[in-house]
Amino acid sequence: MRKPVIVGNWKMNKTPSQAKELLNAIKEKELDSEVEAGVCVPAIDLTLASEILEGTNIKFGGQNMYFEEEGAFTGEISPLMLNDIKANYVILGHSERRDIFGECDKLINKKVLSAFAHDLTPILCCGESLEEREANKQEEKVKSQITADLKDVSEDLVEKMIIAYEPIWAIGTGKTASADDAEAMCAYIRNLVADLYTKETAEKVRIQYGGSVKPANVKELMAKENIDGALVGGASLKADDFAALVNHRK
Ligand code: PGA
Repeated sequence: MRKPVIVGNWKMNKTPSQAKELLNAIKEKELDSEVEAGVCVPAIDLTLASEILEGTNIKFGGQNMYFEEEGAFTGEISPLMLNDIKANYVILGHSERRDIFGECDKLINKKVLSAFAHDLTPILCCGESLEEREANKQEEKVKSQITADLKDVSEDLVEKMIIAYEPIWAIGTGKTASADDAEAMCAYIRNLVADLYTKETAEKVRIQYGGSVKPANVKELMAKENIDGALVGGASLKADDFAALVNHRK
């Protein structure tokens, strides 16, 4: 059985003082312990997340990192820094990193390998643009991303990771992929992992859907066989909504 996993991706939101308030508000909520809950916060808020969430079941992580452990890489954070504050996850290959900051699959692959080497759970994002969806190229796009991003990742590691399918046209737009479309792509990704590794491994990998997930649509999405969780932007910025997402089964 795959444990459902709901992760908030705060993106570039919440100053440290605002983050403190939101983290404390989330900490106060009663959350379903059968669901894994986590928040990926801006780098400057990571220490706060580590301190405030200590002793709770709420996991946390970064939204990006460089693959090297240290050195002359101005502006970056490293896996060792995430380890030091006991971060659980790191989001890698988010479409905003790919599109706005020009990250390519080769770089993302190095980051995935580095995350595993440092015991961080990568939340690897993939997904097609509107143009690609209209040309019916969503499978082709996701296949090329996942195949390249998982290069040289061994089978025993891959089963521990989280893959987030996030169609770019559904991110922050209010347009959610229909639950059927989201399920079709998550099933496609599971089959792809089975082809690249084995069916047993594919059954263990958790696959999230992301793109305008909110309390009103989370139940329908989570009811699908191959959707094991959600990566949530906008709706994760309010403690009530985040709790409602985690508690979707109640
Ligand atoms: P959204 O973002 O929920 O605001 O659409 C999701 C994401 O980009 O992870």
